[in-house]
Amino acid sequence: MKKSLQLLSAAGLLLGSLMTARAQSTRVLFDNDWQIQLDTANQYEASRLASKPWQKVQLPHDWSIEQPFDEYSPSTNGGASLRGGTAMYKKEFTVPAADKGKHLFIDFDGVYMNSTVWVNGHELGTRPNGYISFQYELTPYLNFGGKNEIKVLVHNHQPNSRWYSGSGIYRNVWLEKKGDIYVDNYGTYITTPKVSTQQASLQLQTKVKNALNKTAAVEVKTVIFDDDKRVVKILTDKFSLQPGELLERTTKADIPAPKLWSLETPHLYKAVTEVYQGGKKEDTYTTNFGIRSFHFDREKGFFLNGQSVKIVGVCMHHDLGALGSAINYRAMERQLEILKEMGINGIRTSHNPPAPEWLELCDKMGFIVMDEAFDMWKEKKNDFDYHLYWDQWHYKDLVDQVLRDRNHPSVFVWSIGNEIPEQWGGQKDTSGRSIARELNRIVDSLDNRPTTAALNHPQKDNNIAITGTLGLIGVNYHHQGWAKLPEEFPGQTFILTETVSSLQSRGEYLMPSDSIRRWAGFTKEKNGGTPDYICSAYENSSAPWGSTHEESLKLLLKYPFLSGMYIWTGFDYLGEPTPYPFPARSSYFGIVDLAGFPKDAFYLYQSLFTDKDVLHIFPHWNWKPDQKIDIWAYYNHADEVELQLNGKSLGIRKKTGDQLHVQWDSIAFTPGTLKAISRKNGKIVKVTEIHTAGKAYKLVATADRSTIKNDGQDLAFVKIQVEDQNGNLVPDADNELHFSLSGDAQIAALDNGNETDLTPYSNKESRKAYNGLGLAIIKAHEQKSTVTLTVTSPGLTPATVQIEIK
Ligand code: GAL
Repeated sequence: MKKSLQLLSAAGLLLGSLMTARAQSTRVLFDNDWQIQLDTANQYEASRLASKPWQKVQLPHDWSIEQPFDEYSPSTNGGASLRGGTAMYKKEFTVPAADKGKHLFIDFDGVYMNSTVWVNGHELGTRPNGYISFQYELTPYLNFGGKNEIKVLVHNHQPNSRWYSGSGIYRNVWLEKKGDIYVDNYGTYITTPKVSTQQASLQLQTKVKNALNKTAAVEVKTVIFDDDKRVVKILTDKFSLQPGELLERTTKADIPAPKLWSLETPHLYKAVTEVYQGGKKEDTYTTNFGIRSFHFDREKGFFLNGQSVKIVGVCMHHDLGALGSAINYRAMERQLEILKEMGINGIRTSHNPPAPEWLELCDKMGFIVMDEAFDMWKEKKNDFDYHLYWDQWHYKDLVDQVLRDRNHPSVFVWSIGNEIPEQWGGQKDTSGRSIARELNRIVDSLDNRPTTAALNHPQKDNNIAITGTLGLIGVNYHHQGWAKLPEEFPGQTFILTETVSSLQSRGEYLMPSDSIRRWAGFTKEKNGGTPDYICSAYENSSAPWGSTHEESLKLLLKYPFLSGMYIWTGFDYLGEPTPYPFPARSSYFGIVDLAGFPKDAFYLYQSLFTDKDVLHIFPHWNWKPDQKIDIWAYYNHADEVELQLNGKSLGIRKKTGDQLHVQWDSIAFTPGTLKAISRKNGKIVKVTEIHTAGKAYKLVATADRSTIKNDGQDLAFVKIQVEDQNGNLVPDADNELHFSLSGDAQIAALDNGNETDLTPYSNKESRKAYNGLGLAIIKAHEQKSTVTLTVTSPGLTPATVQIEIK
């Protein structure tokens, strides 16, 4: 009785900080009132910036996405033909006199790349890696009670990443305030060594720093809250710290009847750690964590909380399509929602540490994350990539990544590298081996999750695998060899780190549907490509090193020892438009296009990995008279599908063996209605119809959410559909769409999912539809407002949509 009362009062005391804190309660966003001098023509000479005007910018900020697509951009079309360059950012701010005696830190979640930071003219440091988070202490150089200035110099010298990176301070910046005694940056580590439904043993490691030049008697109190904000445990610790000392302390507790983190119910806990000296609170530090157990089995694959789970994940780069790489919480959440709806349960953060918010969302929504560190080590892939900084920085960058991310329950595997050139060379080259050993040692010293490396030479002489230090053998592609993996690597566990690389344009269909095209770089017409640079959404093109979705899926489902796979990729991304040259500028690999519209393969996954009744037939039904068309269906929960054209049966098809779709070949086109009926034991499960569309007649606009927050960041994604008079999507409509907005908000970007559209993303007024669809992204301001988006197109009935911002 007494104990629970104590717990309750502690809860009352701490709830305030819980409410405000997404991370530490002592931390505030530092994204407003920045200015920039920008030079996109020059990539490395900072001296030329002096002549550039200062312009206002709002962080997170990506200057590359505002540039025109440029065939001669040093980034090449691998980097989306958008320019990098050099920039100086600055921000003036005041620090209250009352903060004298406090310790102030600035946290950058990510700056692309090669940033150098100054405060009031004092250089704080340089950080080459554009994907890592870093912190500097400002305290000794601040004017308390007066004006201060931060400056950040950024060089994005292209080409570096093999994909679109974006440029600038593209993730959040925070200002942290602490007392004299505080929890160090990334200073908590919560593990649950034993987990059952009855009880979890919890271990909390806390690194506490004494910034005083005298010995301090310290009390640390950590209150553990469940996701109903109930206090479940309080841990206390008393000790003394020498002047300047940084000490790690361990406390332990048992959590009875823990609410386990799972993919369906990703329960989260929160640990709020308060540091006291002589009764005075010096610091509050919040750590989110989850309680779950997992293991990888040699024969049976992956288990989460004792239950077998096949990881069906996707690789994702960090860009947010038309928004570029400037992070936005809602845009990331929408990507993950769409993937979840498709049945995806895993994310590989290819090929670098993600924004911290991405992992927060994966924690909250339930994804199995592979958190990747590097795309290259010492040997380069591009001239100005991270190989230049490897020797000096890899240790620090890897340590910081693991320390930053190791409390996330969604993180299950660390990848120490993707397709690292040092893996090759058999006995001759041993540098890969020593680096692999070193990186594994670093990770193992900080965390006990398994490591892997994404190997595209999955043979026993692989320099990385041969060291025996990987927790999981990671395999990129090579599906023909999956069956033999247990023989090649006896006694090992496996994860397919990267698979598929199928190539598809949404709504484009090349006949015949089952003649497979293996297309690599620069497939012009003479090599079998199409003049308008499209790939077929039938699932009949892939990169030569990859496979169709079905080819890989069949094998994944067949072999229990394959714990799962990460498909290349969930969404299309900017850059790497294999197989085509410029003007192609964004990838074709996504199951979802750059605008967030599903391609047909989306429904293949949905039919296999969700509970939803699925009956998806394609292609569209607008062809030339008598043209011979193959019709495919993805379905589930049924034994058979019947297809009818204008009321006449085209026959019944059933999936047999390991088939994942059914098809009706060479159906002579006549306009009208295609109707598919799925049945189980003779009873109808689902009916899907497609109609031949008439001429484009009207626009229809639908917002994903009709109410958004007035926080200056929230987004509404509005889909625009070109329809005929009867409400059918016009499947090849490419009408020019014009957008205008009334009310207090802005159009953040427009898109359509077309990989070759060269309309710059700085154009927020017009863009063509692509195969009947367009997208407008509306961004809230900080005022409450009712905004109306109007979309017009010559000759078509316009559309409007209203969004409440409150
Ligand atoms: C892989 C690589 C990815 C991407 C992909 C395209 O080999 O790891 O980053 O380039 O190929 O198919």
